[in-house]
Amino acid sequence: MIVVKTEQEIDAMREPCAIVRDTLAFVGSKVRPGITTAELDAYAEEYIRSRGALPSCLGYCGYPASVCASVNEEIVHGIPGERILRAGDIVSIDLCAYKNGFHGDGARTFAVGEIDENKRKLIRVTEECFFRAIEGLRAGTPLYDIGAKVQAHAEANGFSVVREYVGHGIGREMHEDPSVPNFGKRGTGVRLKANTVLCIEPMVVAGKRDLRVLDDGWTAVTKDGSPAAHYENTVVIREDGVEILTL
Ligand code: MF3
Ligand code: CO
Repeated sequence: MIVVKTEQEIDAMREPCAIVRDTLAFVGSKVRPGITTAELDAYAEEYIRSRGALPSCLGYCGYPASVCASVNEEIVHGIPGERILRAGDIVSIDLCAYKNGFHGDGARTFAVGEIDENKRKLIRVTEECFFRAIEGLRAGTPLYDIGAKVQAHAEANGFSVVREYVGHGIGREMHEDPSVPNFGKRGTGVRLKANTVLCIEPMVVAGKRDLRVLDDGWTAVTKDGSPAAHYENTVVIREDGVEILTL
């Protein structure tokens, strides 16, 4: 069931969402060759807690860290560890913060030093997929228009979108209805109501979309080893457009 938020609930979500935005920027400022993903996770956890919030991912379904840090061919849910980032890598940081009884959720992909043209294009197109998806999005828009627009833009650029991981509603729970796929057919799905809060999160792969999950039970990687990028914001559907809470 899709739960529409009251204006007070949306106001309560502003702070955890702002903390997500600021944590992503802070972690991004720490990304450089030589740093480990565990160090990035520690920076994020410390920062989230310094703002009086909790890292929602830590302990979620047994997840062992505060952020997901997915490098190169890792698509999502990379577990931070002793892996050292090197120039030419890309790293997707996905994190959630909990405060005021609500969660915020966002993701960005960062370049480590100089990256090649294909990875630069992948990061750019993944961000563009998000902005294409919210173009014209407002109360009354069919849900799967979001995924249709993400998919169209990714594929027009020679990339693909994964099917196994999707965006979602968010609020008192990190994952609420509805699922928000990054693929689909325009004009289908429920018509979104005003004050629905969604996480729209294109996950785009430079090669084929086939993936597998590593033995750690979390990390999703492309089967063909091609790089992947992730860009996510928490947004409110309004009568006349969307309000982005994590920008
Ligand atoms: N931000 C992620 C999402 O949108 C949450 C990571 S799942 C976790 O689903 F289990 F790793 F926390
Ligand atoms: Co999410």
